[in-house]
Formats: sequence, C-alpha cells, structure tokens
Amino acid sequence: MDEHSPVLVDEVHAALALRAGGYYVDATFGRGGHTARILEAVGGEGRVLAIDRDPQAIAAARQRFAGDLRLTLEHAPFSDLAVLVPAHAQGRQCAGVLFDLGVSSPQLDEPARGFSFRTDGPLDMRMDPTRGEPVAAWLARAGVDEMREVIATLGEERFARRVAQAIAAARQREPITRTTQLAALVAGAVRTREPGKNPATRTFQALRMFINDELGQLHAGLAAAFAVLAPGGRLAVISFHSLEDRAVKQFMARHSSTDPALARLPVLPAAAQPRLKLVGKKLRPSAAELAANPRSRSALLRVAEKLS
Ligand SMILES: C[S@@+](CC[C@H](N)C(=O)[O-])C[C@H]1O[C@@H](n2cnc3c(N)ncnc32)[C@H](O)[C@@H]1O
Repeated sequence: MDEHSPVLVDEVHAALALRAGGYYVDATFGRGGHTARILEAVGGEGRVLAIDRDPQAIAAARQRFAGDLRLTLEHAPFSDLAVLVPAHAQGRQCAGVLFDLGVSSPQLDEPARGFSFRTDGPLDMRMDPTRGEPVAAWLARAGVDEMREVIATLGEERFARRVAQAIAAARQREPITRTTQLAALVAGAVRTREPGKNPATRTFQALRMFINDELGQLHAGLAAAFAVLAPGGRLAVISFHSLEDRAVKQFMARHSSTDPALARLPVLPAAAQPRLKLVGKKLRPSAAELAANPRSRSALLRVAEKLS
C-alpha cells in the first residue's frame, strides 16, 4: 500500500547527467525512488534536497533515509524552490532539478485521501491536507459556471456543463462528501463512454488539478528551478497528461529559442539570448517498463540544460 514504483529511473539518471559530488533537487519525493538513485550516484560528497508537499511522503522519507546526512527534506510546495535551494545549498551549485509530476501510488491507493473514484472515501484530494480546502468543501459552494469551467478546462470533459448541473442539483438534496457518490453522479451526467475509461476520470482529474493548483505550481516550479540551476545544470520533467506536458514544452521552447523579432538584429542583446538548450527528444517508458508498471503508461520525460 505504501509503495510507489518510480518511472523512467535510468532515463532520469542519464537526463540529469548525475555525477559524484553533485548537488541535486528532487522536487517531488513521493516515496523516494528517484532520490535513492540520485544519492547512489552522487557518492559521499554529493548532496540532495528532496521536497514534497505531502506530509506522508516526508514521514516516509524520514524513515527510509534516516541517518543519511547527504539528504535534506522539506515539506513544502515546489513553487518555494527558489527560497529553499539557496537556504540549503551552502554555496553549492545546483546541478539538476527533477520534477516527477502528479500523484503517487500511495496517494491514489489510500481511500482516506479521496483521490480515487474506485474506492469509497472522503472527497478530499489535497496532496497537502494541512492546507487549503478539500474538494467536498469547494463543491458545496462553487457556482455552476465555475464548476463547468474547471471541469471543461482541466478535465477536457465534453459534458462539463451537465456534470456541473448534476452536482448543483444533487447538493440541494444532500452534501456531496464521498468519492463514490461523486463518481455515480458524474456517470449519470456523462452521455458517452470512452473505451476503457471510467466516466468519472476526467472530472476527478480536473478537481484534483484545481484543488492543488497543479498548473500554477508547475509554472512557478519551472521558473524557480530555472532560476536556481547553475550553468550546465539539467532540468528533467516527467509529466502524465497533455495539459502538464504542454506547459513543460512551452516553457522549454520559450527559453531555448530567440524571439523572431529580435533574431533579425545584427547583434542579439544578452537578455534575448536563449537560456536553455533542449537535450534529446521527449522520452516514454520502454515496453519492458510498461509491462512491469502499467501506471507508467502516460509518463513523458523532457529534458533541458541551462546555458551560461
Ligand atoms: C509521481 S509522485 C513522485 C514519485 C517519486 N519520484 C518516487 O520515485 O517515489 C509525485 C509526488 O509529488 C508530490 N507533489 C506534486 N505536486 C507537488 C508540488 N507542487 N509541490 C511539492 N510536491 C508535489 C506529490 O505529493 C507526490 O508525492
């Protein structure tokens, strides 16, 4: 129950160009599969800062890596990276930052966290239950248009209006507080079935992304990682769906290209020079990894290097 199979571990090792003595940041510790590999590679002189906004992840980290003085743990959102890294780096140059986005298996599999439409639990979905409000509280007060907008944009759900209306009608009868209660409501509102997909998938994805401000976190986290990386440092990002990947792709494209209007100038101003170099093509899990870990199926890794 408390395990998470890390995805693309060898690929991330290569992407970060891990080297002995380096200082790296794992912005999404989870259960530490990637952190373990990074610690192995950096040897006795290396250092790792691991961040997770989920207190259970940090508690698991304290157990798994108890006594490893090379590792610093922070219970924080990765949008705080620009503050956390200088505070811990002790003058070291940051050689790489990894983001393995989304939720961990323990979060998904523990009914009490409220992420899954398959098992009954409180409708919560916060990665950090010590902050913000659970999905149930938001659904109790949100307007129909607000719900429709969230479900349409973050879930890319065609029937967002019908789902929002069904929620608004149902909450007049009784509060919507359970995951399976919401899943049944959505199933009644979504007209067509996508093969192999639970009808509540898109709505749950949207509500999870909204309540955790996942896209806002991603934009802030990427900008902060870019700021703290040393020249030559690597940025590796694993995303799990198209909205995340689009944000990562656009971020890397923006910083690795020159504004076409400025590109025609005889001498490019320093501020207009590309600051990132793309490293390789986007990577997906191998057939062997897919067979061993079906949850890796939508993982996609993009890598870039900071230029001097
Ligand atoms: C896919 S799991 C990472 C798994 C990890 N690489 C491993 O090998 O076990 C994603 C983790 O990132 C955390 N997370 C997601 N968004 C975050 C954010 N904005 N700030 C900090 N942690 C975040 C989640 O709580 C979750 O534990």
